[in-house]
Amino acid sequence: MAAALLGTVGTVPDSITITDNRTGDTLEVPIVNGGVSSADWRKLLPDVFFYDPGFMATAACESSITELDGDAGILRYRGYPIEQLAEQSTYLEVAYLVIHGELPDKQQYDTWVHDITYHTFIHENMRKRFMEGFHYDAHPMGMLVSAVAALSTFYLDAKKLADPDQRMQEIIRLIAKMPTLAACCHRFSSGMPFVYPDNNKAFTENFMNMMFSPDAKYAFDHPALHRAIDVLFILHADHEQNCSTTAMRVVGSSHADPYTAASAACAALYGPRHGGANEQVIRMLTEIGSIDNVPAFVDAVKGGKSGRLQGFGHRVYKNYDPRATIIKKVADEVFEITGKNPLLDIALKLEEVALKDEYFTSRKLYPNVDFYSGLIYQAMGFPIDMFPVLFAIPRMSGWLAHWQELLEQDSRIARPRQLYIGAGARDYVPLDTRS
Ligand code: CMC
Repeated sequence: MAAALLGTVGTVPDSITITDNRTGDTLEVPIVNGGVSSADWRKLLPDVFFYDPGFMATAACESSITELDGDAGILRYRGYPIEQLAEQSTYLEVAYLVIHGELPDKQQYDTWVHDITYHTFIHENMRKRFMEGFHYDAHPMGMLVSAVAALSTFYLDAKKLADPDQRMQEIIRLIAKMPTLAACCHRFSSGMPFVYPDNNKAFTENFMNMMFSPDAKYAFDHPALHRAIDVLFILHADHEQNCSTTAMRVVGSSHADPYTAASAACAALYGPRHGGANEQVIRMLTEIGSIDNVPAFVDAVKGGKSGRLQGFGHRVYKNYDPRATIIKKVADEVFEITGKNPLLDIALKLEEVALKDEYFTSRKLYPNVDFYSGLIYQAMGFPIDMFPVLFAIPRMSGWLAHWQELLEQDSRIARPRQLYIGAGARDYVPLDTRS
């Protein structure tokens, strides 16, 4: 629906009318899918830009992948509620769903699983030369960011963005290689020999095997724990226009290859405000140390003396994060097998105290996906600095779904505007004459 320029007010019920008080000109702009088009806005106000740091009120694209209603606590992939997918699906099926838009039939599913399984290997140069170049105590997420970018140098055809078959080839490769790269980062940073993928194992089992085998304490060759990781992967597969997906879309919009764009997404995920929060939650709970210290810690957060409550708050959810509800249930199932994580009681107390506190309730700050996930990972034996990497493995499917959607929509390069507030024009002063 096009905007009606200059004066035709009130003809469309779902619309807004903008008046330029400098000229008296008005423009009626339709509200479509909950938004108004900046292209319409520019017809009236070509030189007036929205000032929106952090994109608080900007929809950067149209998307049909994930629907999120933060007030109602709703999350759906391609229309399917996250609760049903976590209960009944598998991560690879969900990856197919977010990429292709529909659930696969039996033959499509088998082909997809086969293709992913047979692309799990990484080039020997990646492992031997590239990975072994890192410092012995490198953070695995830093390694992963670099490794994903380095893959682009092995797959030069990935630059053929206009070819849908080529795009699908790279999508399969990236989803398939993430567990291998992740485990490789862990094995190197803990001085352990690399374990090759085993194509007879299912996706999650294969990953756990590459991580832990043949450690004598490897108690996790347990189907229920593989399933728990698979459920966590489902919950992390996509989350619409979050920081890392936005990075993927922004870099993808320049028509960089998918490995380079995915590396930018990994980099965005690394930060403690985003996928790095799961790591920070465990560090915070460890620092708190005991249930008795929880009230004082919450007071320190409120007084600005202890940073933020890690794993709390969300830009979009102003209600309980539905993923956190499912994760809490998974945690109970996992702890029945591994034994309870001793930090759980501190986490539960922290949640209880915070959710009764006006500071948190008035700001609608609830536990998010990262609050309980780290407790599960830790109980299973994953080192703390692997937690953001565990987030990145499944989020790769979401990033790629958005990358593909972006290319199919023939979008323009991401290039925001700014409101310049710096110095006015002035003449250069040579160094020796500056006071
Ligand atoms: N602890 C204490 N206060 C908080 C917290 C927190 N975790 N989160 C937000 N606030 C306060 C904030 O200080 C501000 O207060 P005031 O209005 O008095 O200035 C108010 O709540 C609004 O915060 P904001 O920074 O404007 O909110 P945002 O939407 O920009 O930030 C967030 C969202 C997730 C970055 C933030 O809540 C945060 O830093 N949380 C902790 C880190 C975390 O758990 N991140 C994982 C997010 S979920 C996984 C993912 O998808 O990335």
